[in-house]
Amino acid sequence: MGIVSMRRRISLSLSLSDSVGWDWKSKVSQRGIVTSCRAVVLPRFGGPEVLEVRPNVEVPDLKPNEVLVRARAVSVNPLDTRMRSGYGRSIFEPLLPLILGRDISGEVAALGASVRSLIVGQEVFGALHPTAIRGTYADYAILSEDELAPKPVAVTHVEASAIPFAALTAWRAIKSTARISEGQRLLVIGGGGAVGFAAIQLSVAAGCHVTTTCGSQSIDRLLAAGAEQAVDYTAEDLELAIKGNFDAVLDTIGVPETERVGINLLKRGGHYMTLQGEAASLTDRYGLAVGLPLATAVLLKKQIQYRCSHGIEYCWTFMRADSEGLDEIRNLTEAGKLKIPVEKTFPIVQEFKILWAETCICGCQSVNV
Ligand SMILES: NC(=O)c1ccc[n+]([C@@H]2O[C@H](COP(=O)([O-])OP(=O)(O)OC[C@H]3O[C@@H](n4cnc5c(N)ncnc54)[C@H](OP(=O)(O)O)[C@@H]3O)[C@@H](O)[C@H]2O)c1
Repeated sequence: MGIVSMRRRISLSLSLSDSVGWDWKSKVSQRGIVTSCRAVVLPRFGGPEVLEVRPNVEVPDLKPNEVLVRARAVSVNPLDTRMRSGYGRSIFEPLLPLILGRDISGEVAALGASVRSLIVGQEVFGALHPTAIRGTYADYAILSEDELAPKPVAVTHVEASAIPFAALTAWRAIKSTARISEGQRLLVIGGGGAVGFAAIQLSVAAGCHVTTTCGSQSIDRLLAAGAEQAVDYTAEDLELAIKGNFDAVLDTIGVPETERVGINLLKRGGHYMTLQGEAASLTDRYGLAVGLPLATAVLLKKQIQYRCSHGIEYCWTFMRADSEGLDEIRNLTEAGKLKIPVEKTFPIVQEFKILWAETCICGCQSVNV
């Protein structure tokens, strides 16, 4: 498969099927269990050049709640490029080599003893937790049962692989944290990205009124998805263009400027949620022993400060597996109400270095360092 390039990067999907054939060098035991497979390994932190495609990476035995998934497509999230560069090194450095990749769409190859909701051969999609060290950039990945759901039949594996991590991040913020309900007003800062776009679609499906900020090239797409106002952050003064009194703000950018704007546009009792929590960056800088308590102190200080000054709830929000959320994401995808555009697809071997070189550049645009 060659490179497919669309107008802009929203999410990149990496097709694992290539001209060499699907089960490329995977080893299968006498009992029919896959014991090793091809994987993209991160032996040390650095640029795209540090990634290695290894032919025989061990596939561990399944725990009772785990599922072996034969990958048909996986996607690249900003977290993957950040982890490759050393983000989270305080946690991940002792665990190297890692396999990156959170999202997957594929088929169930084997089931742990207690898995009841899936069957072998079934098409599934899902996403691993941000701290998982054996990621999905492999012919066979291992996810727990609650990290997977049946793949929506309305989309291809490539399209499905772009959805779960971004949509579950949005779900956690707007459904679990802010608990948005019909008729409420939501501001999505950065609606042009995968998480922001998913948040818009989930909120519109819940009957909310959505305003968003994005680049000029994203405006039509976000309005078509149901946002009532899309403000170009490169050309307009957000504080003049957007009228306040929001019930919730999801800030996917999370820099001081967007935080200030978002906080000021909330009504009392509203939720400000940033995707750029500082726990990993502080533990990377100061080590786990100092960084974790420091991050807790920073978060508490901001929560108290904003509660006193604006009467609002300030939160760092993170992706977390949620089977109820994944089921609703699947239903909305099936109904054509949720999609994440895919910009490019790459075969895993031939184009891998190009993929990472390009996502490295794209990823930096959205990183809050
Ligand atoms: N905390 C977590 O668990 C978690 C989970 C997922 C992602 N994240 C983080 O959240 C961020 C977004 O992730 P993503 O997957 O949505 O990334 P993405 O798909 O790469 O989207 C980034 C988008 O942000 C937009 N943007 C950049 N600067 C902006 C600004 N000042 N105002 C408004 N929009 C701006 C751009 O959209 P335009 O095209 O419209 O310019 C860009 O396409 C990343 O930093 C990622 O690491 C955190």
